[in-house]
Amino acid sequence: MKKITVIPGDGIGKEVMEAAISVLNSLELNLEYKIAEAGNECFQKNGTIIPDETIKIAKKTDATLFGAVTTVPGQKSAIITLRKNLDLFANLRPIKSLPGIKSLYPNLDFVIIRENTEGLYSGLEEYTPDGANATRLITKNASIRICKFAFEYAKTNNRNKVTAVHKANVLKKTDGLFKEVFYNTAKNYQDIESNDYYVDATAMYFVTKPHIFDVVVTTNLFGDILSDEGAGLVGGLGMTPSANIGEDNGLFEPVHGSAPDIAGKGIANPSAMILSTVMMLKHLGELESANLVENSLLKVLKEGKFLTPDLGGKTKTMEVTREVIKNIKIYF
Ligand code: NAI
Ligand code: MG
Repeated sequence: MKKITVIPGDGIGKEVMEAAISVLNSLELNLEYKIAEAGNECFQKNGTIIPDETIKIAKKTDATLFGAVTTVPGQKSAIITLRKNLDLFANLRPIKSLPGIKSLYPNLDFVIIRENTEGLYSGLEEYTPDGANATRLITKNASIRICKFAFEYAKTNNRNKVTAVHKANVLKKTDGLFKEVFYNTAKNYQDIESNDYYVDATAMYFVTKPHIFDVVVTTNLFGDILSDEGAGLVGGLGMTPSANIGEDNGLFEPVHGSAPDIAGKGIANPSAMILSTVMMLKHLGELESANLVENSLLKVLKEGKFLTPDLGGKTKTMEVTREVIKNIKIYF
């Protein structure tokens, strides 16, 4: 039996999590759920946005599903705390155009792999006499780990090319190191093409010729920005899933937040959360179930009869979910 930590969080986090769990329950997999708290409601109740108990539970289970939380001003981030504690060093974001969903280009299918633990998000910020300073920490070990992850990902997912994105012409030491590690790693994967671009050029290529990308590997801040740009290419926040992967843990979450503007109305698009669940099932080795859920969702989207308002429809979250489950039952 596989154990899953379930962190619904706040706002639509709870609504899309209900959808994801209903889908999982329809699969007749042997899963045990451990419900855990995080976010604003948790803070109001317990005085902390992420109790130690939540981290303890997440460390012990095989994977974590995370809905979304409302950020509490002045408090640390629940998701960053989890990423750090579980050492989830790789952030994976598929950029894939889906049938029936407005995408800037048809047939887009690439993956962004972002280093999740250091770079400009190392948390090394301080005030100085005349302003403030942030340290951009790049270590050899973390660079090796993420570059190796990218090539291994390419290998196991039949991807042909890995592109490193950096700004080594200006950030000569930090990104110079990252680029050097990338090409050293590439030597061990002769069957996979490797190349690199500057981050500013990459931002333009995402818009002008995104089909040149297959697997993109980059440092923390660049990855954060590029993955939102990527989400914009393929239908926006309601559609984009993500995975945070470590040596012995994985956390799966939609890219969107708690959406206070639509929370409580039951109209959130469950696709990003369901696709995150698909990524979790793949991570757990449940490939058949993963494909079943993915195909069932894609069928609903393609038919276009049951769509949430953000996709131009009128259907509620759980009605869309019921249609997905109906398809799962048909394929079973
Ligand atoms: P957001 O992602 O919650 O919402 C942005 C816009 O997209 C809103 O108009 C919302 O209605 C829409 N949207 C998002 N997800 C949707 C879905 N599944 N279906 C339909 N429409 C959807 O970002 P926002 O408004 O900047 O942040 C709201 C709260 O969420 C803040 O407290 C923020 O800090 C937090 N947040 C949390 C994240 C997390 O838990 N990982 C990530 C991003 C934001
Ligand atoms: Mg972001």
